[in-house]
Amino acid sequence: MTGDKRVFIKTFGCQMNVYDSERMAEALAAGGYSETTAVEDADLVILNTCHIREKASEKVYSDLGRIRQVKEARRRQGQNTIVTVAGCVAQAEGAEIAARSPAVDIVVGPQSYHKLPKLVADARSTGVRVVETEFPDQEKFAELPARTTPKSPAAFLTVQEGCDKFCTFCVVPYTRGAEYSRSVSDVEREARKLVQGGARDLTLLGQNVNAYHGAGLSGDVATLAGLLRHLVSIEGLVRLRYMTSHPRDMDDDLIALHGDEPKVMPYLHLPVQSGSDRILAAMNRRHTADHYRRQIEKVRTARPDIAVSTDIIVGFPGETESEFQATLDLVGDIGYAQSYSFKYSPRPGTPSATLGNDVPEDEKSERLARLQALLMSQQAAFNTAMIGQTVDVLFERKSRNPGVLVGRSPYQQLVYAEAAATMIGEIMPVAISLANTNSLSGTVKLF
Ligand code: 5AD
Ligand code: SF4
Repeated sequence: MTGDKRVFIKTFGCQMNVYDSERMAEALAAGGYSETTAVEDADLVILNTCHIREKASEKVYSDLGRIRQVKEARRRQGQNTIVTVAGCVAQAEGAEIAARSPAVDIVVGPQSYHKLPKLVADARSTGVRVVETEFPDQEKFAELPARTTPKSPAAFLTVQEGCDKFCTFCVVPYTRGAEYSRSVSDVEREARKLVQGGARDLTLLGQNVNAYHGAGLSGDVATLAGLLRHLVSIEGLVRLRYMTSHPRDMDDDLIALHGDEPKVMPYLHLPVQSGSDRILAAMNRRHTADHYRRQIEKVRTARPDIAVSTDIIVGFPGETESEFQATLDLVGDIGYAQSYSFKYSPRPGTPSATLGNDVPEDEKSERLARLQALLMSQQAAFNTAMIGQTVDVLFERKSRNPGVLVGRSPYQQLVYAEAAATMIGEIMPVAISLANTNSLSGTVKLF
């Protein structure tokens, strides 16, 4: 069918939402929708939302205010606009969104994206608003159309969804549900399709990806290490990554894989959240600071140059200055190449939201600033150490500067270098001459 209608998709939050947005776009393309970056041209607007922190959630409502204006302006010109809220805010707030925002036609949770084309067609023909936030029995992945060409040679592939860990601050077990793993054969089929379409670097995604336990090829249950060992045999696939992992599920086989499988990239995102054992227990993290330190030690023994990244929350209820200091100590000991750090944000429905004993906002801000100063200096040091080295870069896209491409090093760093656009999708050695906190630059070394 020709693309006679347009869809505008805005993605908030994590990589899984990026992946989901791509799959929604693909599902809608089959019904004649092509993507637009101009909201005023869109017959269908989708906000793929994030509920992890309050800020992310609130952004959705301010966007919906503006979208309502666009919808009304289009209506005056006789054009209909279907407004859809997808993602984790949709799952968590459901009908409340429709009540709060009159412009919204469809509210659809992450487990129901395969139904989206029908929901849109129904909304268009009947004008009836719908809220679809069930966790259906049948598998959404089986119902979604097969993948088309990926947008970038570095592609995402969701292999696991949901989480059974129930950290006390986190909405994920409620918005994405219980842990579910796709089968090895299903993942392999999608991986092959992506590689055929030009992907060279795949990041396997899951809210708790190293708890992966999908059906294996011979009636067994595969671990993440088993899945990775299987995928490395795909010709044309040269880089594999995975995120996000839990320290408790980092088994010895997965650790060993970093040492013996060159296609598995030397990059590990392993959230620690806090360096204080009392806070970790209150967070129900199921690991101590020492356990985490030992896990990193093992990973570094297997792969000494591995880049480690993490997530940290400051100002969890009751966090004292000395407990925060324990986080700084742990960060100082580990030395992170990359990180994401946040002020604690109480989320409705999570156990920690009712703990009381909140750390005052200015204290949280002050702690976050101190932590980020340390983390940024570690990241800058990691990048600076690359100067003079030659690293393999997979070029992903053009940069804003004419003639300059952007790619990634094995350690997940952004690298800029002059190269022809035909080199997108190729891996080239780049001699690094410049480093700053967020990126590297260098020269392609052909000979
Ligand atoms: N407040 C602040 N940060 C949070 N995260 C998850 N829930 C919250 C919350 N309530 C952070 C954690 C997690 C990352 C994705 O977001 O660090 O690893
Ligand atoms: Fe949330 Fe991650 Fe904890 Fe699961 S392991 S509850 S996704 S922070």
